[in-house]
Amino acid sequence: MGVFKIIRISGSFLMLDYNNDEVLEEALVELEKSGANFVHFDVMDGKFVKNKTFDHKLVKKIQEKTNLMIDVHLMVEYPENVVEDYIKAGADIISVHYESTTPENLEKTLKLIKSKTVLSGVALNPETPAYKIKDLLKKDLVDVVVVMGVKPGAGGQTFIPGSAEKVAEIREMSKSVYIEVDGGVNIKNSKILRTLGANILVSGSFLFGSKNMRKTVKALKGNNYASRIKDYFTKK
Ligand code: DX5
Ligand code: ZN
Repeated sequence: MGVFKIIRISGSFLMLDYNNDEVLEEALVELEKSGANFVHFDVMDGKFVKNKTFDHKLVKKIQEKTNLMIDVHLMVEYPENVVEDYIKAGADIISVHYESTTPENLEKTLKLIKSKTVLSGVALNPETPAYKIKDLLKKDLVDVVVVMGVKPGAGGQTFIPGSAEKVAEIREMSKSVYIEVDGGVNIKNSKILRTLGANILVSGSFLFGSKNMRKTVKALKGNNYASRIKDYFTKK
């Protein structure tokens, strides 16, 4: 028996001049037309990562305008202090970093997100091993695992191959959790990521840099949106 999977695409506008309203609006129109499912918000506080980007106000502003689902990636220290702002801003997924707070507060934050019927995500830096979230998965606190394909903090970096293995490891731990891969995703590596069990692929520089965004989204999804994959991770 195979697993029936639907791949969703989340577009990151991090590399664009998002402070320019015209640029941002055009990017959102293009993203909607492309067939992408989510708009991905890379929130950085200048502490958890060096760069600083934007906050919940931009999420709210865009949420009110777009039909795309809202995928918030919090690269901030102590996300428990700000998470409610993003719930109120209308996020559909809120992901916090495993490395960004204490284990106790991480659990509390994920519980809070879930209690507001928002999908709770936990993001793993490249050096954080998959087994660290075993307990959180067991306790059913995580709806989405974000596997970072690059060091968080900047767009346009090269995919770290070990991240693909992490996707397989997490898929082995849970059949039902969404696995989102973020950073360095392109058409070439998307195939293996889909095959290993990823459901959501974030694309920034590759998608917005492509000539035909519609074609790129199709290719990232694997052309047939729902691709039947071999259930190799159950058969040993
Ligand atoms: C990295 C960000 C990613 C990144 C994706 O810190 O979390 O979302 O912007 O962009 P690309 O696809 O260019 O790696
Ligand atoms: Zn991101």
